[in-house]
Amino acid sequence: MKGIILAGGLGSRLFPLTKITNKHLLPVYNRPMIHWPLLALVEAGVRDIMIVTGGNFAGAFLQLLGNGREFGLHDIHYTYQEGEGGIAAALSLAEHFVDGDRCCVILGDNVVEKSIKPYVEAYARQKSGAHIVLRDVPDPERFGVCEFDSTGAIKSIIEKPKNPPSNKAVTGIYMYDEYVWEVIKTLKPSGRGELEITDVNNAYLRRGDLGYSQMDGWWTDAGTFESLLRASNLVSDREAIAPFTAGLPPEVEAR
Ligand code: DAU
Repeated sequence: MKGIILAGGLGSRLFPLTKITNKHLLPVYNRPMIHWPLLALVEAGVRDIMIVTGGNFAGAFLQLLGNGREFGLHDIHYTYQEGEGGIAAALSLAEHFVDGDRCCVILGDNVVEKSIKPYVEAYARQKSGAHIVLRDVPDPERFGVCEFDSTGAIKSIIEKPKNPPSNKAVTGIYMYDEYVWEVIKTLKPSGRGELEITDVNNAYLRRGDLGYSQMDGWWTDAGTFESLLRASNLVSDREAIAPFTAGLPPEVEAR
């Protein structure tokens, strides 16, 4: 399974913090934001990783992460997204790298409390399709949100609904088979002018091939001032009790 971290976009919600650096290089407690999704993939056993970046400061990713040796990686692959065409547009740039394999995608501004290995393993048990991870949140209108039918099955996913049909948000951890590239090619830009990952997930849902897990532990994005601060506070509390790197292979450098 290949790993992809999506760290493109312009981080305009965090302006002026993002005037002189990329959003994913801002600190989340004691590490640059991008370290957290990278550590999450490494801890889950994903070793073949591509970072999709963009904007004016893409070179800083190479300076920061190099070939990933401090994460126990042999190397890291990088690609560049022009502009801000959306999460699915950023993902499409990794097709060549994934090369017919399955992939685990994580958004560069998502931070999790616990291991994502259980979700990767749940997906490995799926014969085909996609797998998403859901989390109850108090503010579902900020996210992709699940609507359920009377049997409790997911009926649809709605991106940033004004009147959320549930409080189950779709987190930024997605797993796909090779069908994803076909789906992305059929997408049309949404109202906000982006190729939406929610449209990809709905396409799998219509095929009856979307599995899901329920997130254990906290999860947050870090793309707004409030959530960036929250992410730092959550990580600070977690690191004081059980550092995330404690579960990592010994070659991964603990701080
Ligand atoms: O955090 C989970 C949420 O992420 C999901 O619940 C939503 O369904 C999904 O659309 C997304 O919502 P956001 O509006 O919060 O996504 P945002 O535009 O902040 O982008 C999140 C990350 O995706 C960003 O840190 C980098 C990557 N990205 C985003 C865009 C728009 C790219 O790589 N390229 C892009 O063009």
